[in-house]
Amino acid sequence: MYCIEARLLSKSYGNFMAVDNIDLQVPSGKIFGFLGPNGAGKTTTMKLLTTLIPPTGGQMNILGIDAIKSPLEVRKKIGVVLQQPSYEPTLSVEKALDKYGMMWNVEKNIRKDRVEELLVAFDLVDIRKKKNDDLSIGQRRRVQVAREFMHDMELLFLDEPTVGLDPSARRGLLDFIKGKVKDGLTIFFTTHILEEAEYLCDDIAIINKGKIIAVDTPGELKNKFGKEKTIKIHISEQKDISSLLAGIPECTIEHDSGVIITVRSSHSEQVLQDILKILASNDMAVEDLSVVPTSLEEIFLSVVKNSNA
Ligand SMILES: Nc1ncnc2c1ncn2[C@@H]1O[C@H](COP(=O)(O)OP(=O)(O)O)[C@@H](O)[C@H]1O
Ligand SMILES: [Mg+2]
Repeated sequence: MYCIEARLLSKSYGNFMAVDNIDLQVPSGKIFGFLGPNGAGKTTTMKLLTTLIPPTGGQMNILGIDAIKSPLEVRKKIGVVLQQPSYEPTLSVEKALDKYGMMWNVEKNIRKDRVEELLVAFDLVDIRKKKNDDLSIGQRRRVQVAREFMHDMELLFLDEPTVGLDPSARRGLLDFIKGKVKDGLTIFFTTHILEEAEYLCDDIAIINKGKIIAVDTPGELKNKFGKEKTIKIHISEQKDISSLLAGIPECTIEHDSGVIITVRSSHSEQVLQDILKILASNDMAVEDLSVVPTSLEEIFLSVVKNSNA
């Protein structure tokens, strides 16, 4: 059963397609990572799915509800934390949490318990009496994310929730989210940080320039690209090495400075032998040579780069 199903979903501004005919299927009870560089269309997609802006094309079904026909019905069942900071300057941290629960008609006793739970979970106990205006950016962000957990929901949308958080708060938030998902919550999580998506998400979609360019589990992404290695060769004399290596099959030349050349390949052993042969037959001395697995970060960058080409 899918929590989110979108088909050919689009949003254009004039003739610019911010979201370009995307298809999405997000299973219930999972964390779905929506990953992409700045300006890729993550926030726009999230605003579409949460019915904050209307699409210019396509269909979407959220929690079994036709979200274009019945946006209000959808909004009652979801939580949304936008990228934009939002807080009440004059309220204390604990009052802000409580008031947010009140807005959602959460019963007083339940609110009281939840405020205590969230103050601890988001490391806000020491600043519970402080006014939001007097908090740091990271503290405000923690309050903003925490308050969303004051109400019950089936599906939560988080737009880059860890931006501005220090590493320990970041890890704390990711682990809190993981716990909530164990209890049955589904999360749609946007980030431009691959590591975060890898740590947290069951499935990852990569978006670039409004188009989805890959959908996979982190494990599958690694399977597909994990065999890929980066070979770095440092030769002693400036030479046009790219043209010498250009004919090697299954070998992508990534960078060539004249003396240092970096290539990527999923058949690194064969490619390495070919390279060494070519270097030897051209009397080129090697200063240094290394072969390292391509990191997921590089995979991400190269998937995005290829989609730009
Ligand atoms: N209201 C708008 N009017 C015109 N262009 C917009 C509007 N909102 C977003 N865009 C453009 O759409 C693209 C995607 O933006 P956004 O969804 O915010 O990207 P991301 O969240 O991935 O950084 C960007 O080029 C942005 O400038
Ligand atoms: Mg954004």
